[in-house]
Amino acid sequence: MPYDPANPLAARAADILRANDTGSSIKAAPSLYPHQWSWDAAFISIGLGHVDLDRALAEMRHLLQGQWRNGMIPHIQYNPDVSPESYFPDADRWGTRYASKDAPQAIATSGITQPPVHAIAIRQLIDIAPGSRRGEIAREFYQPLLAWHRYLASARDPENSGLVTIVHPWESGMDNSPRWDAAMARIDVPKDDLPPYIRRDLTHVTDPSQRPTNDDYDRFIWILEVLKRNNYRVDAAYGKLPFRVKDVFFSAILVTANESLMHIATLAGAALEDLDIIEEWILNGRRGLAGRWEDGRCLDLDVISGESIDVNTLAAISPILAGQVSPSVRAAALKYWHSEDMVGHPYLKWQLPPSTSLHAPQFNPTRYWRGPVWPVINWLFWYAWQRIGEFDIADELRRDALAQVEYAGFFEYMNPITGEGLGSDAQSWTAAAVLDWLAG
Ligand code: SER
Repeated sequence: MPYDPANPLAARAADILRANDTGSSIKAAPSLYPHQWSWDAAFISIGLGHVDLDRALAEMRHLLQGQWRNGMIPHIQYNPDVSPESYFPDADRWGTRYASKDAPQAIATSGITQPPVHAIAIRQLIDIAPGSRRGEIAREFYQPLLAWHRYLASARDPENSGLVTIVHPWESGMDNSPRWDAAMARIDVPKDDLPPYIRRDLTHVTDPSQRPTNDDYDRFIWILEVLKRNNYRVDAAYGKLPFRVKDVFFSAILVTANESLMHIATLAGAALEDLDIIEEWILNGRRGLAGRWEDGRCLDLDVISGESIDVNTLAAISPILAGQVSPSVRAAALKYWHSEDMVGHPYLKWQLPPSTSLHAPQFNPTRYWRGPVWPVINWLFWYAWQRIGEFDIADELRRDALAQVEYAGFFEYMNPITGEGLGSDAQSWTAAAVLDWLAG
């Protein structure tokens, strides 16, 4: 079903994307996130494609202008017209163009990355494009996406485990998830060596308790500092980096993205050797995820301590994102999904997955990734359940996710118990998810 401007929710979603559009790229949110974020841009394109395919493709094209020479897509591309005082860390704090030979010189970016949803987005755009344009879109985006996935399979997996190592909690997209608590607690921030900074995020939200803590921020900024002092060479400095985690959620997204890339590669007329490489990435990713199951949950691995990260969050069933699940994984995922740790908790306003289990000691219903429901995550799980043929779950998820946005508005995240909207209002990816659900 194409975009229907007569549908009030769809029209509001399209208005949000229009209002957040700077002309060159789309802000992730009006004031809290005034630049272009990597995974936000991909989700935005998926929704925007239903309204304006060319504008959605331009968004991805803009993002890829900031791709590094080593293939990495940085997590933020800075808008030069936005004051450095609007967002911290600003471009100078990262200093990537001075510190790294791989970073673009003319475009300011951050020095870390984010989950690889880009090939999924391009595949979705190809699917809604007229047949006559599909090959051209595939040919335009194939090589940058291949380079991006090659970077993740090499620099971010020196162990060849099939699992991606993140070197900063921001890379997970789930900045202050309790998944990172133990690894973060080990990091001793040398206060006299941490250049001073002012948090800007707190001025853009109504209540600072919805954001990560100051202790989190000291560590976020210290890890940035260590990466910068190592010229953002994750490959060369790997053993020295203070935060290294095999993130199962990130890794599962990469498997799905590689399946999308395979489709794009075929349409682009890629060489058979390329298809073999992508196939091996998919199989290796699935093998890596299969090895991370413990007690009915798929757990991240803290590379530094060698320990599994035993926290109940929605990441624990992320292998369903990787598709083609075995019967035992399907059963474990269904059990966890319906349990009180996820959508089966009686206090939930809607049957939507909380970012952290209501039973976890770390649960907090309003603080960022420590409990709230995130519409964009609802979108990902909706997509994942469909891919493995669990259409009833996907339909219920979509219905409740839309009801939540109707109730709360287009917020970044919501209190799972009261349904109250939290973080930024008019969040672009929330609008994009709604547009895709309504089209779907
Ligand atoms: N999500 C982070 C922030 O809150 C950074 O990517 O600013």
